[in-house]
Amino acid sequence: MTEIEKLLQEEQQKGLASLEAVTDAETLDAWKQNYLGKSSLVMTTFGKMGSFSKEERPLVGRAVNTVKVALESALAGKEETIRQESLLKGIEKETLDVTLPGYPIKRGRLHPINLSLREIYRIFGDMGFQVYSSPEVETDDMNFTFLNIPPYHPARDMWDTFYTEDESVVLRTHTSPGQIRSMREYYPNPLRVILPGACMRYEQQDQSHEIEFMQFELLVVDKNITFADLKGTMDDFTKRMFGPDARTRLRPSHFPFTEPSAELDMACIFCGGEGCGVCHGTGWLELGGCGMVHPRVLQYGGYDPEVYSGFAAGVGIDRTTLLRYHIDDIRYLRANDIRFLEQF
Ligand code: PHE
Repeated sequence: MTEIEKLLQEEQQKGLASLEAVTDAETLDAWKQNYLGKSSLVMTTFGKMGSFSKEERPLVGRAVNTVKVALESALAGKEETIRQESLLKGIEKETLDVTLPGYPIKRGRLHPINLSLREIYRIFGDMGFQVYSSPEVETDDMNFTFLNIPPYHPARDMWDTFYTEDESVVLRTHTSPGQIRSMREYYPNPLRVILPGACMRYEQQDQSHEIEFMQFELLVVDKNITFADLKGTMDDFTKRMFGPDARTRLRPSHFPFTEPSAELDMACIFCGGEGCGVCHGTGWLELGGCGMVHPRVLQYGGYDPEVYSGFAAGVGIDRTTLLRYHIDDIRYLRANDIRFLEQF
């Protein structure tokens, strides 16, 4: 063994032994400089390979490589140990206060119209009604003709209608076209449905009128349905919605798709029927239209009017919401003002 090989072997033993004593990153750095740095024995030996004889060169080369690999792998092991230890120390020092309150969660709210809608579903659900959805963009036939309002009939003037470029397609002016759709789907079974949804009318907007508004339609078709069923159901609904003291009346009216027809009025909840600004001095508030389903409409729905009868009603959900929460302008409902919506 040559002198240099012996030196290298000693260097390895010294290096490994002194590495044992190293416990922190700084000392490890110094050790690295010492044994593997530019002026370490290992590196300087690499630098002067040319000065060895042809016979010595492979022997020295092999020896210095062995030492380098041994020192480097010991270094890597030590680095890992130190990293693990400092991690553990950090975890031990850290404290976690599990009693600290969490970050508050911002809660969303239901829109007042949806609050009313849920109440309506609950009330009619209790009475055995099912919810049936039907399209907001309708055919002219569904919105008018099948509801006993033929083309060009002046009764169409009751609704200021949005037509589309295709004249046979309209934005529905009421939820009544759902009567035809639900009858055609349920035929020949008896049915008891509510049809909620948006309706559109080309009207001047003011405190109590919006271009878009919500309605729900009520439809019952069965054998032996009478006007008394209509009256009882509407009165019961009003009391469940506005409280047991609510009083209703049916006022004679006209709709092409019901016969006889009526308006459902509720005694003004603001003045108790005395007459005030909200009820325009009449003592009554209008909730919606209703009546016995016209025989021709039953026929359009597929039912034989000699065997079946039914009643229908259309109630404004926006109106109902204004009354429930004492809101004085319908336009608040769609203005999307968070200061208004936060109150519900
Ligand atoms: N569709 C009517 C309207 O919106 C209301 C209504 C529905 C009347 C059902 C009678 C029966 O004006």
